[in-house]
Amino acid sequence: MKYPKDYLDEIKTRLKVSTVVSKTVVLKKRGKEYVGLSPFKNEKTPSFTVNDEKEFYHCFATSEHGNIFDFVMKTQNFKFGEAVKHLAQLAGMQPYMFSKQDEEREKKWKDYLSIYTQYVEFYHDELLKNETYSNARDYLKSRSLGKEEVKKFKIGYIEKNPNFFNKLKDQFSEQALVESGLFYLDEKKKIYVERFRGRLIFPINNISGQPIALGGRIIEKLDYLAKYINSPETNFFKKGSNLYNLDLARKLSNKLDHIYLVEGYMDVLGLSKNGVDNAVANLGTSLTDKQILTLNQFFDDIIICFDGDESGYKAALRAAENSIKELKPEKQISFLFLPNKEDPDSYVNKNGKNNFIELTKQSKISTHQFIFSHYKKLTENNPSSMAIFEKKLRAIASTIKDDFIKKYVLEYFLEKISELTPHSNQNKKNFYVKKIKSLDSTKKYFNESKSLTGVELKEFSLLYLLINNLALLQANIHLIENIKLFSEVNKQIFELILVKLKSGKQINIEDLNLDKQLLEKINKFAPIKYILKNKSNNNQKIIELLEDISRDLMNYDLEFRIQELESKFSKDMSEVTFNEIKELKKKQNIN
Ligand code: GTP
Ligand code: MN
Repeated sequence: MKYPKDYLDEIKTRLKVSTVVSKTVVLKKRGKEYVGLSPFKNEKTPSFTVNDEKEFYHCFATSEHGNIFDFVMKTQNFKFGEAVKHLAQLAGMQPYMFSKQDEEREKKWKDYLSIYTQYVEFYHDELLKNETYSNARDYLKSRSLGKEEVKKFKIGYIEKNPNFFNKLKDQFSEQALVESGLFYLDEKKKIYVERFRGRLIFPINNISGQPIALGGRIIEKLDYLAKYINSPETNFFKKGSNLYNLDLARKLSNKLDHIYLVEGYMDVLGLSKNGVDNAVANLGTSLTDKQILTLNQFFDDIIICFDGDESGYKAALRAAENSIKELKPEKQISFLFLPNKEDPDSYVNKNGKNNFIELTKQSKISTHQFIFSHYKKLTENNPSSMAIFEKKLRAIASTIKDDFIKKYVLEYFLEKISELTPHSNQNKKNFYVKKIKSLDSTKKYFNESKSLTGVELKEFSLLYLLINNLALLQANIHLIENIKLFSEVNKQIFELILVKLKSGKQINIEDLNLDKQLLEKINKFAPIKYILKNKSNNNQKIIELLEDISRDLMNYDLEFRIQELESKFSKDMSEVTFNEIKELKKKQNIN
């Protein structure tokens, strides 16, 4: 269905971009343009601009760009047709009528929505008020759910012998009622049966909060009945496109950057009851690309938290392999595994919100980490198994659509694989020793002091030099004032000495009031003392040594920062972090 160009143009002429955007974004005028906080990203400084003259908006933070139709499609998750309708109305125009077919679909949608709304409202009220449904209320209580959750999620209870079909049959055609999926014909008895009879119902809403399907749970265990059932797919409800609770959860996207994706209705309810409202459930099907894209429109980080059992793990693996191809810079999908036998509902009810959030912080892993560790578990340490392992990971990496992410994930996989081989392992272990090139001759003394790290020894050397050459370094303070130390004790002493040196007064070692034990340790372990042995009067040599130490400490600093950033990058995969790493590596090479 294509709208005529002149109809669309008229909407555009009537509506300035800033008019449309300012319905949801606060804009400030700046020259010919407007600026505001990006609706596509959590940010503190505005990077979102609107240009009425050129008829577009542009977000510098996310590179989102487009006209008024794009804007409402992206921010309200509308399809093009819905965007046109919405904007036409805003522009005070009549909706465009296509053909008989469209009118019919429009009419069907109105009926559908009305059927669901009446059904949901009625049985929600019944659950709250009807005396005879105390069994359903007791069941909810036994699951720690009360009135508040019932209201928030419009939960209802359908009696065992309901007759809502008859109530609706004067308002709607039989076909409309059957197409809603709420009723089906019992061929033998020739009567319409209510699919959700005897069940608690959980309305599944579209993104605007309108009910379009139901999930239903039995409250008495009966082996011949499925524990849960959902509405069948209808004209207006497609399982892979909808998510339970997205309508409420998405409203938090201006405050939170992450959303939990869980398996069941009860998980969403349990989390909400404990104060975690940014959760959606994927209705018992496997996660689809469409669902990921939808979630990513609102949240940067999707945290998949399925049940802590084998089927939850398998579902998570399927989700990981399926979603890795959609990874994008600034967007991430992570996995949170719960202790055995727990699901999010049981876990949060036992341990509370703070514990759950802490668990998330400590144990969530990103998609590529999960995939790597899964396949590593299946791999044995022999060439053929390793080859299959590497092939599999390469194949998975090659499915990633974003080139940048593809490159990084492949690098990550290959580096992790090389760590598994003994040869490169050795290189890794020797890292700190290897970096200290300039003081090769001190290497052999390192072993005397196994409990001290390479960095500490380096700091001891620095302090040793300082203490024994106070006058010389007072005159050359510029060589030491920017050196960065790592261990707290050494740092304190270094700063103390620095202050004294800077005072300009002549000082000697006693003025420093150094801790005796530490002084002893420095004198014993500072590797540099062996080098200085015969050169203690050679100022030129001392300065050279000092420069060496200073450069090495700088390299440690760079290396620590790189490691920190790499770990950050493995989680956020942002281009900004990647570039920071590159910069630091460049500096490291110059040194
Ligand atoms: P409770 O047992 O009530 O705590 O629910 P749960 O969320 O722990 O259920 P479970 O982990 O067993 O299932 C997770 C989700 O899968 C449910 O919310 C349903 O959407 C779906 N599901 C579970 N059992 C069935 C079933 O028998 N049929 C169908 N169609 N879906 C089911
Ligand atoms: Mn469960």
